[in-house]
Amino acid sequence: MKAVVLGAAGGIGQPLSLLLKANPAVTELALYDIVNSPGVAVDLSHIATPAKVEGFLPPDDGLKKALTGANVVVIPAGIPRKPGMTRDDLFKINAGIVRDLATGIATTAPKAFVLVISNPVNSTVPIVAEVFKKHGVFDPKRIFGVTTLDVVRASTFVSEVLGDHSLSLSVSVPVVGGHSGVTIVPLLSQSSHPLPASLDAAAVDVLINRIQFGGDEVVKAKDGAGSATLSMAYAGAEFAGKVIRAVNGEKGIVTPTFVNLASDKTGGDALRKEIGKNLDYFSAPVELGVDGVTKIHGLGKITPAEKALVDAALPELSANIEKGVAFVEVPK
Ligand code: NAD
Ligand code: LMR
Repeated sequence: MKAVVLGAAGGIGQPLSLLLKANPAVTELALYDIVNSPGVAVDLSHIATPAKVEGFLPPDDGLKKALTGANVVVIPAGIPRKPGMTRDDLFKINAGIVRDLATGIATTAPKAFVLVISNPVNSTVPIVAEVFKKHGVFDPKRIFGVTTLDVVRASTFVSEVLGDHSLSLSVSVPVVGGHSGVTIVPLLSQSSHPLPASLDAAAVDVLINRIQFGGDEVVKAKDGAGSATLSMAYAGAEFAGKVIRAVNGEKGIVTPTFVNLASDKTGGDALRKEIGKNLDYFSAPVELGVDGVTKIHGLGKITPAEKALVDAALPELSANIEKGVAFVEVPK
């Protein structure tokens, strides 16, 4: 099981690489960045876990060498937000970074599972897919937008509302839609642990808003020094770990992720009907298997208020997706 991190020397890249090195199912770990990746690799290589670690820089075909034989490629490369910015403001720089890295994957490891963390996820996932289409290697089952941090935040914030932090490991809330502000839709009515009946509508709205804008909370607290890195590394390693377990044959793993709805035609079509819009991408609970996506689950029973949140997500989500597709069709 060869895992590759593209952007491995960054705020997310380093702790994510550490967590992947700590995963005993990973036997090879390749770290690629435009700076510092060899140092990070040597540091991690002293940890007594199975993965053989190597670091690569752009010269001497470093990207190609890192990607050769890759099973799972995680992409946290790109610039993070500063206060006052939206994730879409990152498009200008990150779209080109993701396009070029996707080109490397499409030409060197077209069968790898690609896990996209770089923002704006609603646009960068379509960019990866369009690059793969251009190279004739597109398999919608193998490309994922990592929305796990929204799920992790939902577990944490719901357990806080329940007044018991120790519940956070067992609280599970599906979060659907996309990964930016109002496109993040937590389905609290499906929480494994129901909210207290005493919680009034205003308090529920505060909770929803906190899950949707949790990223802003971190950006504001870091005050110009970037966005979520450690919680993202945790979430990225969680999601990568699930993909690795599924690829290794474990069945029944279901987790929300932002996927191309063609990856399971039946499920994708049903989901389009449910949301009432002909989108190509959406984050929904997805069952993972040896070949990637095996089943896209529907939204299940949602409340009218949750339906309103889904409706409110659609215009921004649709515009973000179109922007990503157009970037590869007509490069700017
Ligand atoms: P960072 O600036 O700390 O690290 C980014 C790394 O990418 C740097 O080491 C940089 O050298 C590297 N890089 C830049 N161009 C590259 C290229 N062409 N090839 C390889 N590496 C390259 O940023 P960060 O805090 O780690 O955030 C990275 C990205 O992740 C941002 O876009 C951020 O918005 C996003 N993010 C997403 C989520 C999510 O939930 N999906 C959560 C947090 C952050
Ligand atoms: C997050 O949700 O923390 C990330 O998408 C980073 C950001 O810009 O908020």
